[in-house]
Formats: sequence, C-alpha cells, structure tokens
Amino acid sequence: MFPRGRKLLLGVSAGISAYKSCELLRRLQDEGFIVDVVPTSASLNFVGKATWEALSGRKVVTEFWTEVENVPHISMAKENDLVVIAPATADIIAKISAGMADDLLTNIVLASTGIKFLVPAMHPEMWSNPATVENIEILKRRGFIVIEPDEGRMTGADFGLGRYPEVSKIISSIYAQTSLSTDLKGYKILVTAGGTREPIDPVRYIGNRSSGKQGFAIAEAAASRGAQVHLVAANTDLPIIEGVITTYVQTADEMAAVLNVEFAHSDALIMSAAVADAKVRNYSDTKIKKSGLDSINLEANQDILQKLSQAKRKDQVIVGFAAETSKGESDLIAAGQKKLDGKYLDMIYVNDVTSGAIFGSDSTEGFIIGRNQDLIRVPRISKQTLSDILLDQMCSRLELAHE
Ligand code: CTP
Repeated sequence: MFPRGRKLLLGVSAGISAYKSCELLRRLQDEGFIVDVVPTSASLNFVGKATWEALSGRKVVTEFWTEVENVPHISMAKENDLVVIAPATADIIAKISAGMADDLLTNIVLASTGIKFLVPAMHPEMWSNPATVENIEILKRRGFIVIEPDEGRMTGADFGLGRYPEVSKIISSIYAQTSLSTDLKGYKILVTAGGTREPIDPVRYIGNRSSGKQGFAIAEAAASRGAQVHLVAANTDLPIIEGVITTYVQTADEMAAVLNVEFAHSDALIMSAAVADAKVRNYSDTKIKKSGLDSINLEANQDILQKLSQAKRKDQVIVGFAAETSKGESDLIAAGQKKLDGKYLDMIYVNDVTSGAIFGSDSTEGFIIGRNQDLIRVPRISKQTLSDILLDQMCSRLELAHE
C-alpha cells in the first residue's frame, strides 16, 4: 500500500516509556510527517496532553466522547494511512487482538484500513507471557507490523527483552515496510493547479474546465516523497493538503506574480494549471448588457511558462502540460513536442481532451515527452499514479541537474 500524504497517527498507551514517543514525534516531524497524537487517558499519567499538543502543534483528543458530532474515530482513521502505537502495552495489544473498542485510540484502530505498526514495550515477563505472545501472533496474521522490542535494562533493576526500541529503528521500519519514499527530500517544488479565470465584468469571466485534480495529486505525492511543496491553485474547490503551502489565485497575472517570486527559490516547477490564453482589455465595473457584448476586447495573456523557462538555471527542472484535441497519437505527440521545444521545457505531459475527457476526471492518459526524444506512453491510470510517474522522471532529471 502506498500511503497518501505524509500523515501519521501516533497512538500512545500507558507505558512508562511514553516519554520516548516525544522524541519519536520530533524525529517524525523532521522527516516531514504531520503527526496527530492520540494518547489513551491512562497514558496521560506519564506524558500529559499539554506536552503532546505543544510538540505536535495540533489539538489532541483522548476521549471518545469529545467532539462526537465530528465522528473523530472514523475521520481520523480515514485521514491517516499510517497508524503507529508506541509504546504498545500488553493491555492495548490484548484489546486490539480481541477487537475491542472502548476508547478513542482502540476505536480508530478498529476503523482503520491503513498500515498499522505496534511498538510493544513492557517488562520481559509480560512480553513473554503466552497471552501476549498469542495476541501478537494474532495481530501479525491480521497484517499489523510489529517492531520488536530491544533487550536491555528495564525501569527497575531488571534486564531483558521488552525495551522501547531506538527511535531510528522505528523510523527505518516505517520506511522499510511502506512504499514511502524520501527521494524528494531537500527539494523545493512549485506546482500549479486549476484554471485561471479572467474577469469580463462583475458577472462573467473567461475560464476553462480544469478541476485542479491533477495538480493537487502531484502536490500531495511530492509532499509524500519528502519535498517542500508550494502549490499555486487557481479556482479549485479541492480540500487543502496538509503540509503543503498553498496560494490561491484567480487570474493568469496573479499566478505569474506568485511564480515570478517563488520560481527563483525552487528546484522544480510543475505547471499543470490551464492558463487562460486571453484576458479582457477593457474590464467593465458594471454588467455588460447583451447589446454591448461586442464591446469586449481581448488581449493575449503572457505565457508564464515560456517566460520562466528563459530565466531557468541549470539546476532547475521545468515540467509543462499540454491539453490538445488531436487527430490521433502522432498528432498529439507532435503537438506536445512543439510545446516542449517552444517553451524550452525539460519534460511535458500531453493529453487529448477531446469532448471534455480528462478534465474533472480521476483518471488520465497521454504521453510524457522529454528532451532527447524520450517518450513514455501513459495508459489510462489514476491521476495519483501519473503523479508518481512524473515525479520519478522529474527526480532523475533533478539529480542530474544537481550533479
Ligand atoms: N501556459 C502558461 N501560460 C499561458 C498558457 C499556457 O504558462 N499563457 C502553460 C500551461 O500551464 C501548460 C503549457 O503552458 O503547462 C501548455 O499550455 P497549453 O494551454 O496546452 O498551451 P498554449 O501555450 O496555451 O497553446 P495553445 O492554447 O495554442 O494550444
């Protein structure tokens, strides 16, 4: 399973090693994760709610009966594809293996269809007790990933297997067991999405049918892979992506103004927005009457991409998009190639939008064209999958550009 977004839910049960999860939370944040902490109420005896709220920078809820109107166990289970319970006590392990759900955390675990990790930490006698051994076996069979405890000194003088593992071991297990990649860590990526709207009068505008789904999918995928993402969104009604800086714009000029500032600080630009080709020269403050519609005068918008490409440094990569209504594959490829060359791009994704296909859809098909005539045929796939293919291509170009 490929987790979407770099979001993680950290469940904390009532073990003395709960304080070590403060460090785990910090290191996960260093890795770019947004972490929601759900402590059991008993665990608050070890680390208080205020500490979790201060460290995570997010509201912490422990009780099932708080904010019931938002059905938090279901929404939190859906929002987080990764759940890590650290420390996981013998008690919570037993409850989960029995399918019990008597507090917020156990309810979330039961409702979650994501990847679930357990980090057991307890005294060696409790860890080797047949009840715990059996419960762990049951949970492993159900797909839980158990990060085995370390051997060492316990809270008291005793020694054995049951210590909370090193935080670095937990983090490397999370990476090893998921397809989460960090290949874009350290890169700043600028992504545009949606379609610009050019006002004619207070009522009308020139616009297009771009939904922004592709650009949002790219932004989310790039953030999942560790990039610092700035999304410039034009007229979309898609939910915000946590962890992604988003600037909302309306017109091509507004989009250009943001990109002109941000491009210089970015390693790559992925221009998936559909920019309106024309704007109105004589915007009217009052609604233009039907009889006066022929007074509307158009002028061409600046070609944002072409202008930015001219300012591109050697260590930057630019990816363009092209929406065409073509007469067949070779026509489509030729149109993409022409825009790749004309706009000095490193890569372009060209797709056929005849009869409104692709706009607003969750899937796409087309061709990725790169410099040196490289061509990748993209069969009909989800916009999320295309995002990862494009990012794979962009990443190898970025690595070359930074050599
Ligand atoms: N683009 C841009 N500024 C414009 C027009 C387009 O930056 N004024 C960008 C788009 O975001 C896209 C690429 O250029 O990444 C190609 O856009 P497209 O609309 O397919 O091409 P146009 O250059 O507008 O050419 P035409 O409409 O004639 O096909």
